Amino acid sequence: MRFLSARRRHRFTKPLILLLALFVIGAFYTSFAPSSKSTAQTETTSSVKEGEGLFAVGCASCHGPNAAGGSQGPSLVGVGAAAVDFQVGTGRMPMANTGQQAPRKNTEYSEAEIKALSDYVASLGAGPAIPSKGDYTLPEPKNAKEREDREKAVAQGGELFRTNCSACHNYAGLGGALPEGKYAPTLQGVEDKHIYEALRTGPQQMPVFAKETLSDQEVASIIGYLTELREQQSRGGLNFGGLGPVGEGFWFWIVGIGGLMVIATWIASKGARSR
Ligand code: HEC
Ligand code: HEC
Repeated sequence: MRFLSARRRHRFTKPLILLLALFVIGAFYTSFAPSSKSTAQTETTSSVKEGEGLFAVGCASCHGPNAAGGSQGPSLVGVGAAAVDFQVGTGRMPMANTGQQAPRKNTEYSEAEIKALSDYVASLGAGPAIPSKGDYTLPEPKNAKEREDREKAVAQGGELFRTNCSACHNYAGLGGALPEGKYAPTLQGVEDKHIYEALRTGPQQMPVFAKETLSDQEVASIIGYLTELREQQSRGGLNFGGLGPVGEGFWFWIVGIGGLMVIATWIASKGARSR
């Protein structure tokens, strides 16, 4: 406070110090009093802040400032953390070019950054939350009775899948074409968490399956069924894209053709030299 003259400093220092002391005590009190809740709260607050920053750089160009919607992308107010975790976690967002269906690709963001983006969007309006593993996983069976229960749940999951999903995703979950050049992707290799989130948030042409339509237990059954299906397909050689039974032939092909190419190049270069 050099700029204050000596006389004014003399007149104002005491009330100023008093005010400062009050302020410090107040700040001290509010930050320490509800100590049990405050750490978790400040953690989310800083995560929301971080998410806001990431959003401004990577998403606001399409979704508008404050995620309220722009000419290139819809408003994200109320879509919930699950929608962001799904869209960014499966690499669909940030979208490369609008107008076509956002394809699945490798995500550009770390786990922590996805969490921050999700926290930020969730702070703008309530929506489906990111689930925990227990919400979408059938319990591991420990005895014959539980094994039987699990089998029943998986069978129920299969029925639910055929009724609700196979029209778009095919009976074996391998995906299929939709009108106007759109497609329902294969469900092989999709993380369980992302399956749950897709149901609850309904990306693009896919309808939303809310808890009133399919309970968490029913979703867990569908996921249990899809897991079983995946295991059967990789065992039985019914898979087309996977590296299961295709593996050996594939490598023979690469090594064989690769070897022929090396020989052909060698002969060509010899021919060129001898000319
Ligand atoms: C090039 C434009 C563009 C960019 C950049 C972009 N988005 Fe999107 N986003 C879209 C469009 C268009 C849609 C709607 C169509 C769709 O679902 O593919 C969408 C949909 C979404 C949805 C689904 C909303 C719902 O109703 O479920 C979420 C969540 C989302 N974006 C989050 C993000 C986040 C987070 C980022 C930044 C990491 C981002 N987007 C970057 C264009 C964009
Ligand atoms: C009307 C057609 C339709 C129905 C019915 C439907 N889906 Fe989808 N589903 C889609 C489309 C289209 C997408 C791709 C959305 C995108 O690319 O953003 C999709 C995406 C998904 C994804 C994300 C896959 C990935 O690559 O990340 C999962 C998981 C999924 N659906 C599961 C299901 C399940 C389980 C059901 C049944 C309960 C179901 N869907 C019902 C059309 C449908």
